[in-house]
Amino acid sequence: MNNTEKSTLTVNNLLDIRTLPLSDIQILLETAKSFKEILQRPNKKVPALRDVCVANLFFENSTRTRISFELAEKRLSADTVNFSASGSSVKKGETLLDTVNNILAMKVDMIVIRHEQNGAPHFLSQYISVPIINAGDGTHEHPTQGLLDAFSLLEKFGYIKGLKIAIIGDILHSRVARSNIYLLKKMGAEITVCGPPTLIPNHIHEMGVNVSYQLMETLEWCDAANFLRIQLERQNIKYVPSLREYSYLYGLDIKKFKSLKKNITILHPGPINRGVELSSDIADSEHAIILNQVENGVAMRMAVLYLLGQKYKSH
Ligand code: CP
Repeated sequence: MNNTEKSTLTVNNLLDIRTLPLSDIQILLETAKSFKEILQRPNKKVPALRDVCVANLFFENSTRTRISFELAEKRLSADTVNFSASGSSVKKGETLLDTVNNILAMKVDMIVIRHEQNGAPHFLSQYISVPIINAGDGTHEHPTQGLLDAFSLLEKFGYIKGLKIAIIGDILHSRVARSNIYLLKKMGAEITVCGPPTLIPNHIHEMGVNVSYQLMETLEWCDAANFLRIQLERQNIKYVPSLREYSYLYGLDIKKFKSLKKNITILHPGPINRGVELSSDIADSEHAIILNQVENGVAMRMAVLYLLGQKYKSH
């Protein structure tokens, strides 16, 4: 195998982590490492995607993912167009496929899509031929978040195999949890999901994870804990009696943290509900790598865009 073959992805789209081979994950993580080095330089721009136009289609709100994709595209010298469902002809009843086909008619080469419907990127991939990157679909998957979380853990610990990782909170509605579980399991980590029984899916153990309802016990077990946001916007029934009770049982503050017999690393994909899953004294502490995750999001998304873009251009 020559160097080009070694660094070529097997996939043409990034739709999910579940079906992404481990070899592709390793290529993506290695490539992101190179881009992170470039991002430390005064001149952060490379000409890799100079002739490529990327459309960022956000049908759902976003701060981190949207801005980091746009920055990643600019740093790769791609042209970018941004689309928000609000203010578009989606509000007049245009379908997803018509919207995308009309954008592609303007000679766009790659699509980044966030959508509230599970499977929207998979659906599109059956009808269009340009690379599609899933930037989060409903409660299904958020592959680039899974990749940047793994990258941040690798940066912190130097390895993933054998690492004990807790994923805490609203597992039921979390695409971040699903992408993290698939990815970290493929890389050999041990995972415990922890939260109120109503927010843990019934068959989650079939994904090969441990299940716990006890926060402090889980924190004593793990090396790193990824706290997830309670997704009130996806909850049409009450899964917890009150946010105050949730915070008391499953939220972390510095007092609980200091009572642990070990030092652990805290992650959060954002946005944080401060005072619910994490108090400010822990979220802003040296124990949290939350802003490192955000920083790494740009390098990771550069890697995804670059590798899929190169593969597409070479065909
Ligand atoms: N982590 C994440 O997806 O954040 P945004 O919703 O702000 O993009």
